[in-house]
Amino acid sequence: MIKENNYENSEFDIKDNVLFIEGCSSEKLVKQYGTPLFVYSKGIINKKCQELKDSFINVYDNTRVAYAAKAFLTIEMCRIIKSYGFCLDVVSGGELFIALKSGFPSEKIEFNGNNKLDDELEMAIEHNIGRIIVDSISELDRIERICKTKNKKVNVLYRITPGVDIDTHDYVKTGKRDSKFGIPIEENIFFSYVKRAIESDYVHFLGFHFHIGSQLHDNRPYIIALNIVLKISEEIMKRYNYVIKEINIGGGFGIKYNKDDIVRPYSYFFDPIMKQVKDFTASHNIEQPAIVVEPGRSIIGEAGITLYTIGNIKEIKGIRTYLAVDGGMTDNIRPALYGSKYNCIIADNASGIKDTKYTICGKCCESGDILIKDAILPKANVGNLIAVFSTGAYCMTMSSNYNKLLKPAVIMIENEQSKLIVKRQTYEELIADEV
Ligand code: LLP
Repeated sequence: MIKENNYENSEFDIKDNVLFIEGCSSEKLVKQYGTPLFVYSKGIINKKCQELKDSFINVYDNTRVAYAAKAFLTIEMCRIIKSYGFCLDVVSGGELFIALKSGFPSEKIEFNGNNKLDDELEMAIEHNIGRIIVDSISELDRIERICKTKNKKVNVLYRITPGVDIDTHDYVKTGKRDSKFGIPIEENIFFSYVKRAIESDYVHFLGFHFHIGSQLHDNRPYIIALNIVLKISEEIMKRYNYVIKEINIGGGFGIKYNKDDIVRPYSYFFDPIMKQVKDFTASHNIEQPAIVVEPGRSIIGEAGITLYTIGNIKEIKGIRTYLAVDGGMTDNIRPALYGSKYNCIIADNASGIKDTKYTICGKCCESGDILIKDAILPKANVGNLIAVFSTGAYCMTMSSNYNKLLKPAVIMIENEQSKLIVKRQTYEELIADEV
């Protein structure tokens, strides 16, 4: 356990001055696979999935977990999620394609997104996916039209914008009124559209979905949003004598990036939510709707570490010293895009005395390509390895080929064994799509 950075994950350790990930030496991994390298700990993924089972699925009836694939998606990840019996939340034809290729059961796939294309909807309906989370009223028209031609009926939920503002970066707030996501509920037409879905020959209307944002540490916005959904559900019972069958409260549960981040157990979010649901169903004497959560980051974020090699050290006397690594904003856009803060160590001098301040920068031709500002590390040399923690979510999936850098390899460590799950890109692949 690396206590100094407050990482409670016992999968990370320091032995003989070297970072070990689930018993594997980072130095040896780099010799075998090169850098930059995404390293995932299966042990941490297992722990998070088990916690979801222990604090949600196994304690509350009629509950489901749908892993948000956008956080990190590979065929191997789909297999892991499937092995826990969880569902999968996809947001594009591409994510759906990978899920189907992995053999993920289509009835356990749900489809989110604010502008689903006709061919994506067709693909989803053709494969009989479990649910489509309808994000706009015009989307319902398109779904009905496609279902009619295919002679199918699909389960739908309406994603609503609950109008809840939260304490996180503006770019990852999604539940406030001024949002491109979801159906605004104050519109007069809202209830008539619910009625239309209830009465439709082409969709089964199940209920409502909201996702208020990401990297949240407070349960109160969920409770406020849920309260709004329950009020709407009550109104629908009154107006149309229709009992809601499902409520999806989205994802967004925060993780530890730095030592000041307070990480809450899942139960901190789920217990008050389930109490609120139970109180509602008891007072209305109705069956409990299915309650679905969509975590992405909290399952995979802390499981990932990125390993880089230092290629250049630039000291600007009295100002700062840059350590340039062999990746950067191409494999982790989050610091440049959101100002996200990360923690790192020198993986092959992991017990060295931390007495030097460095700024870790990438190799892109972009001044904003800074991964970590003012990291306090042991004195570094060219060739040393940098390990950045908690890069498991939204790094690999948001990676790019800017400056034609190659996308890193991805490995998974399980029971002290490493296995390659995504090969490092090759130069030939950079031109594979060109005609
Ligand atoms: N459900 C829906 C409908 C979502 O839009 C999202 C994330 C999730 C679930 C999963 O949220 P999570 O549990 O991972 O917080 N690229 C940003 C995060 C964008 C999140 C988008 N939606 C970042 O790197 O912070």
